[in-house]
Amino acid sequence: MPDTLTAPPARTQVPRRHLTGPNDLDLPLIEQLLEGAAGFERAGSASGPLRGKLLATLFYEPSTRTRFSFEAAMFRLGGQVLSAENAAEASSAAKGESLEDAMRIVSGYADAIVLRHPEVGAVERAARAAEVPVISAGDGAGHHPTQALLDLYTIKKELGRLDHLRIGLAGDLRHGRTARSLALLLSRFPGNELLMISPPELRMGTDVLDQLTGARVDQTDDFRSAMEGLDVLYQTRIQAERFASPDEYERYRGVYVVSVDLMHRLPERAILMHPLPRVGEIDPLVDADPRAAYFRQARNGLWIRMAVLDWAMER
Ligand code: CP
Repeated sequence: MPDTLTAPPARTQVPRRHLTGPNDLDLPLIEQLLEGAAGFERAGSASGPLRGKLLATLFYEPSTRTRFSFEAAMFRLGGQVLSAENAAEASSAAKGESLEDAMRIVSGYADAIVLRHPEVGAVERAARAAEVPVISAGDGAGHHPTQALLDLYTIKKELGRLDHLRIGLAGDLRHGRTARSLALLLSRFPGNELLMISPPELRMGTDVLDQLTGARVDQTDDFRSAMEGLDVLYQTRIQAERFASPDEYERYRGVYVVSVDLMHRLPERAILMHPLPRVGEIDPLVDADPRAAYFRQARNGLWIRMAVLDWAMER
């Protein structure tokens, strides 16, 4: 009797295309992904390049934009999605399974994994264990590389260039993974000036500052004066979930608020960005200002994540 069992197709032995942090993104790859995103945006839809592929999304922390845009991107590329939207409680992590074991298991079912996890470095650990590409959707107060890519895409689309810009990064720069990743990617382009605007206790870590050798970097806690000469104000949320206690968070809540009055100080050519969600640090009255780019920015996540998935699942 013939053996009807057949082995699953062998995985290709080419190096896997993980995206675990900004250090996986050199300038040629950034430009390739930005061009890819622009192509997907121009086309409006894709011809199904990832038909037959499966993406697993595992989110051990909450998300709206990142998870939905990755999943929408996969469907728009013709692929399908397996999703654990509350993986900390709804996967076997709740029974004590290690992240490494989970990655080995999910690698057997999916062609790539998108992972958000509360621990810094967790996505790199996952990539070492997985047998398919692993893409970061954020690791605690570490990094958020696809957010930084969509931020670059937005700046280029809105201002026409990624070099010789003065960018103010404002808010909780100690815990804000989006600002940390964006600073690193902006420093790859010539002539950029980064103004870090934060209370002294919430300054960006030296692990990032020490790598910003390609940019001029200044620090201030004077939010109003910092607006002068900016091309981009990148406002961020005070990250309540990263503080040791609610009392510590309360000390910084509301420290910087973008109001209609503050927008008068921002140059007319400038744009206001925010990775979102916002929780009070931009007055909704500012939304009507044409320089408020944050909803356009969130939309751009779709095109970037289409480009990232298309690249990671090399066809
Ligand atoms: N900007 C961002 O990462 O948003 P979510 O947490 O909603 O995914």
